[in-house]
Amino acid sequence: MIFTIFGATGDLTTKKLIPALYNLYIESQLPEEFTVLGIGRRDYDDAGFIAEIEAGMQGDYAEWDVFKVHIQYYRMDFSNIDAFSAFSAMLKTHYAGQLRDKIFYLATAPRFFPIIAEGLIQNHIVVRGDLRSKIVFEKPFGEDLASAKSYNRMLLQSIDESQVYRIDHYLGKEMLQNILIVRFANKIFENIWNFKHIDHIKIIAYESETVKQRGGYYDQSGALKDMVQNHLFQTLALVAMDSPTGLNDRLIKDEKVKVLQRIVMSDDIMFGQYAGYLDEKGIPSGSKTETFAALKLYINTSRWQHTPFYLITGKKMDEKLFRIVITFKDSSFFFEKGQPEKNQLVIEVYPREGIEILFNGKAPGLQAYAMPMKLDYCHLCNTIGNTPEAYEKLILDVIHDDASLFTRWDEIEASWEIIDALEMIKHFEPLVIYENQTAILAKLETLWKEVKI
Ligand SMILES: NC(=O)c1ccc[n+]([C@@H]2O[C@H](COP(=O)([O-])OP(=O)(O)OC[C@H]3O[C@@H](n4cnc5c(N)ncnc54)[C@H](OP(=O)(O)O)[C@@H]3O)[C@@H](O)[C@H]2O)c1
Repeated sequence: MIFTIFGATGDLTTKKLIPALYNLYIESQLPEEFTVLGIGRRDYDDAGFIAEIEAGMQGDYAEWDVFKVHIQYYRMDFSNIDAFSAFSAMLKTHYAGQLRDKIFYLATAPRFFPIIAEGLIQNHIVVRGDLRSKIVFEKPFGEDLASAKSYNRMLLQSIDESQVYRIDHYLGKEMLQNILIVRFANKIFENIWNFKHIDHIKIIAYESETVKQRGGYYDQSGALKDMVQNHLFQTLALVAMDSPTGLNDRLIKDEKVKVLQRIVMSDDIMFGQYAGYLDEKGIPSGSKTETFAALKLYINTSRWQHTPFYLITGKKMDEKLFRIVITFKDSSFFFEKGQPEKNQLVIEVYPREGIEILFNGKAPGLQAYAMPMKLDYCHLCNTIGNTPEAYEKLILDVIHDDASLFTRWDEIEASWEIIDALEMIKHFEPLVIYENQTAILAKLETLWKEVKI
């Protein structure tokens, strides 16, 4: 197998892809004969490329020296379509024995997707119907609906959908995979998973980091395209979808798409930019790109009716955190002492993986006071060994031709339709400059008075 990474000198390769491949190697999940071929513009030889990766690696890599002999580097400007014929010839010369299984991972900005795909297809490196050659596209797939449509059209004119993997690594996270099981394998939840019993749902994705060295990329994107179009909407789809008629990939995606197609945005939205963003490397002066977005929306299905969904994401927050909070309606009973609190189901995706249920019970003692209590399940704590990183799971799925945790075209199309509309509205909304999490959430509380953030 040859696993080629376009954009291999970037942050994603060092931080996620190489560690995931290394772990798969350690777990004997990679074929005996394999090469990880990194492609970038920088003038490295194999040793120089490996040294660059080593400089950015964190953690324990006890068998690194055995693994690293499989890593090689090829220098190429992939924005030049003519460079692909030499690339094709090089593959045939050096990797003839490994070319049966080819995975091309596009860890690049989306504007490079069409040219790289075209280069691979034109030079017959990836051929329609050859299910042993696949292209993986990093998120976001496209810059807007029009570009995503044109990339997709171009791809499907030349290769099959089953050779295309549009990755959203959040779908590989343990607790996101857990949502459907928790919902549909438990009578206690599925029967009350609707507007009659649920007051509102929050999906919260905070990042503590600033844009760091990735300003050039981020400024073209912003929170809407970097987080909402993919991670938050995919999570929303899993939380809000109707039960599929069967638990197969197609039926689940059919239901997810319906959610995305029925999103109705509220006007109560807010965009922010952290103070100091304009001084970051690669940010044009006066940029209005949002690093924080708070969206209130509804899902126009009989299950949800007027239930509000709140999506909040931002950079430069106090901590990196991802969680889904389902808040149930008030209990209909009135207690003389100790009024019960609303029940909550909290699905924690990051940093802790777990589930909390907040409920009311009797306070210990002689009198019958109601008091809040918590059931707490820690997913990671009860697992023997580490849960696999999302990228590890997803790369393994690509190797095994399993696209169930990858996004289908109609999901992407429906997401972009909403994001395009929001991008238009965004220009008429004030951009709140925030110093820190406390400041931006205090501002948000004045907009969403009805909910505790
Ligand atoms: N970073 C993350 O944690 C992360 C997480 C999820 C998704 N993603 C997505 O993954 C993609 C890549 O992210 P990234 O952070 O790795 O980006 P990045 O740091 O900007 O890396 C992209 C790499 O592509 C190379 N490149 C650019 N133009 C090239 C060309 N014409 N020919 C050859 N190489 C070229 C650059 O290499 P040279 O310096 O050699 O030119 C650069 O190192 C983005 O779409 C992003 O949204 C990233």
